[in-house]
Amino acid sequence: MLSVKNLRVYRGDMEIIKGINIEFKDSEIHVILGINGSGKSTLAGGIMGIYPTTGKIELDGRRIDHMGIAERAKLGITLCFQEPARFEGIIIKDYLLISSKEKSLNSLFSTLNLVGLPIEILKKRMDDTLSGGERKRIELASVLLMKPRVAILDEPDSGIDMLSYGKIEEAVYTLKKNGATVILITHNKELVNLGDIAHVLSNGKIIKSGDPKLVKRFFENMNRGDENECS
Ligand SMILES: Nc1ncnc2c1ncn2[C@@H]1O[C@H](COP(=O)(O)OP(=O)(O)OP(=O)(O)O)[C@@H](O)[C@H]1O
Ligand SMILES: [Mg+2]
Repeated sequence: MLSVKNLRVYRGDMEIIKGINIEFKDSEIHVILGINGSGKSTLAGGIMGIYPTTGKIELDGRRIDHMGIAERAKLGITLCFQEPARFEGIIIKDYLLISSKEKSLNSLFSTLNLVGLPIEILKKRMDDTLSGGERKRIELASVLLMKPRVAILDEPDSGIDMLSYGKIEEAVYTLKKNGATVILITHNKELVNLGDIAHVLSNGKIIKSGDPKLVKRFFENMNRGDENECS
């Protein structure tokens, strides 16, 4: 189990995440909902070790908040970025084999199938000829191949067409089935239903947690209020 206790995350000299407490159990899907700028990516980066934090981050009761990114990655924590890094020029097959726990071509094939990419893409390079959606799917495939303990997915649906929603769903459930904790970050209300539990992040604080259906309704009402204010 991953837990954060009074977690604060800083960017520059600003405290962006302002004291969060969550227990993320194994095989549990947590959806984090929040509008632009609420701190979702900052929370993800804090757990991964990219931004400085205070408070406690524990994996199976062991503190990991003093560890660097590589050490946390070795423990099985992985972050699928909102804007995936390109690893410019690397052959996709090599990129996926590096990520892969099993290092077998068969696992590459089945994972590509799961995220909806053709096998031929393995021969291509990570470069500008890939579309944004293809890059996101490759990133998702690499996370699946890692068989992580904790998978933090930062807006996996951004840049991916609606038809592919089922692919994201399949990927998330596969991670869960393999025992991973999934932290699914989104501002897409449709993805909330995938969660076992959902949270609303607002201005760096969790203002609602619980049953995804109820949390989704809360989030909708909250944003309806904003729309009324604008009109
Ligand atoms: N270096 C920085 N110094 C100060 N504030 C920053 C810095 N970088 C980001 N921020 C602010 O932190 C806040 C949270 O940003 P973050 O990227 O975590 O939001 P988000 O919820 O992921 O938004 P989005 O939905 O647009 O991806 C924003 O208000 C942003 O302007
Ligand atoms: Mg973000």
